[in-house]
Amino acid sequence: MAPLPTSKEGSSNDHTDVETKAESEGVTLNDTRPQTAPTNSRRYRKLYIIGGAVAAIAVVALGLGLGLGLGLKHKSTNYVTTNSSFLLDPSFEVTSTPTTRYYEWVVEEVNGSPDGFERPMLVVNNQFPGPLVEVNSGDELVVNVFNKMSNGTTIHWHGQLQNGTNFMDGTNGITQCPIPPGMNFTYRFTINPSQYGTFWWHAHASTQYTDGIYGPIVIHSPDEPIYGTYDRDALVILSDWYHDMSVGLLTQYLSTSGIDGSNYGGFNPGAEPPPDSGLINGKMTGSALDLEPNLRYRLRLINMGTLTQFMFSVDEHVLSVVEADGISLEPVNVHRVPIHVAQRYSVILNTNQTAGSYNIRAEMQEVCYKLANPNLNKMVLGTMTYGTTPTTPNTVDWSDSLPQECLDLNSTMVVPAIPMNPPNSTQDVLVSMSFQQTFDSGGNQVLGFMNNTSWDAESSNPTILQFARTGVQTVFDSSQLVVVNDNITVVDLIMNNYDDSSHPFHLHGHVFWILGEGDGSYQPGISPLSLINPPRRDTLTIPGYGYIVIRFITDNPGLWAFHCHIGWHMAAGLLMQFASLPSKVQEFVIPSYMEQQCSMQSGGSLIGKRDYRWLGLGM
Ligand code: C2O
Repeated sequence: MAPLPTSKEGSSNDHTDVETKAESEGVTLNDTRPQTAPTNSRRYRKLYIIGGAVAAIAVVALGLGLGLGLGLKHKSTNYVTTNSSFLLDPSFEVTSTPTTRYYEWVVEEVNGSPDGFERPMLVVNNQFPGPLVEVNSGDELVVNVFNKMSNGTTIHWHGQLQNGTNFMDGTNGITQCPIPPGMNFTYRFTINPSQYGTFWWHAHASTQYTDGIYGPIVIHSPDEPIYGTYDRDALVILSDWYHDMSVGLLTQYLSTSGIDGSNYGGFNPGAEPPPDSGLINGKMTGSALDLEPNLRYRLRLINMGTLTQFMFSVDEHVLSVVEADGISLEPVNVHRVPIHVAQRYSVILNTNQTAGSYNIRAEMQEVCYKLANPNLNKMVLGTMTYGTTPTTPNTVDWSDSLPQECLDLNSTMVVPAIPMNPPNSTQDVLVSMSFQQTFDSGGNQVLGFMNNTSWDAESSNPTILQFARTGVQTVFDSSQLVVVNDNITVVDLIMNNYDDSSHPFHLHGHVFWILGEGDGSYQPGISPLSLINPPRRDTLTIPGYGYIVIRFITDNPGLWAFHCHIGWHMAAGLLMQFASLPSKVQEFVIPSYMEQQCSMQSGGSLIGKRDYRWLGLGM
């Protein structure tokens, strides 16, 4: 594989180089376009050099609380978001000839008001939602992430297979350590040539993405079954939003008194902070898609939220669902699409009704929350217009009733367009997930458990490095539940949910088959399993007090997280790992600066055990 950027001695802050390059070439840092491949690679490489000793001292100083006044104070400028940026450029060349796409990202703290309430938030390149990554299958992606914040971060590429590049998966405590403040990390990997569709990227360190570090990934391919069946592409990013930094909410959530201050009266363990609002393309109001009449639009729906399942619809327009999590589907017509955290759907919308403005609806499914927010406006509206000048729509909602549970689109409607039957399984992995009271903290803190383990990020000793150093290992910290397979194994992951809420679970680095799901506990030999072209995806919702059976092959070497994507729940411990082919993990050429960045986390000054305090702003 291509050489990775290596740490260079004595260099101070390569962000200066980035700015210098940007200025000298007349490109602003807010530019979302990928940089074209540099002709002089030596010159470009300079951009990857990470800070050495000087930055290390700065970080230690920060860790000791001496960092104030070092220029890390967040800007009170606002971020940028324009409605037109969610319409994809139709001139993007879809080809099967791979190229390399370069992006320069700066993550920083700014003030913003997506729903009208100003608060500090975290953004990439001053954009919210963050920059679009648009590639073809097989392209090499290079994203140089410079962390200008006062806390560590990582960027995860949700749904990317990362075959052979698990160390680019961007998962704190599993595949890397947080990128320290003032330093950078260059993510470089090849988009799997067999992958296409709608994906996203987000920070993967505690609940940090809740504060704004997320954005879309679109992978085109002439091989995609639905390629050529639509005229234009548009993004519809749904997210829930809070008025407080996630650190404060998480602190309260994990405290012995719980988010409602009463330890849920003992009745509601795991009750999450309910959001303050919902956003469509980064706005609570004023989000608009200005379309052309008589075209077929592929709306790429992505739920980048932390807790909320949305019901998506467009008044008076039937939606044809054609993709779920990167898998093309046999088209199925619906009025509304339920989309849980981290899931994606593509729907085809035909702009063939009367010219005018129509409501786009993203209704927040409060039935999924354990704790309601009486002030929440659940119906988030945007405007779709074609054939006329936009006005405030007076169109009406579909009249079909909303589901009373938050479940995925029925699996009979998620039929892969390219049929694939799973091979026979060779291993059953039984997992139960629950919330339980613990007494570790001297009180009765409620944590999430996978079997008997409540996960905590090993932020200075990620499991990938534990394997890279020792090869196959079977002993882990008590906070790590790791299923190790050094042979290619076909795993049936059977999970029972002992919590009353449903949970969207994601498996990194794989597409799994969904063999079964239902109420109650899984009954071997009784619960029905579907083995003929079952749904395939990377994120599915396990019903409250229900079960799921998913099947996948451990042929992708690395450490892969399987976790609830509700930010609060992952931070409370609902995460386990699959260690696949660890002998191969040992052969990875992991960039040496990753080890260096890990060593900088030592002493607990940046991050300690279940230490969510580090998420706060450095002001
Ligand atoms: Cu969207 Cu663990 O990731």
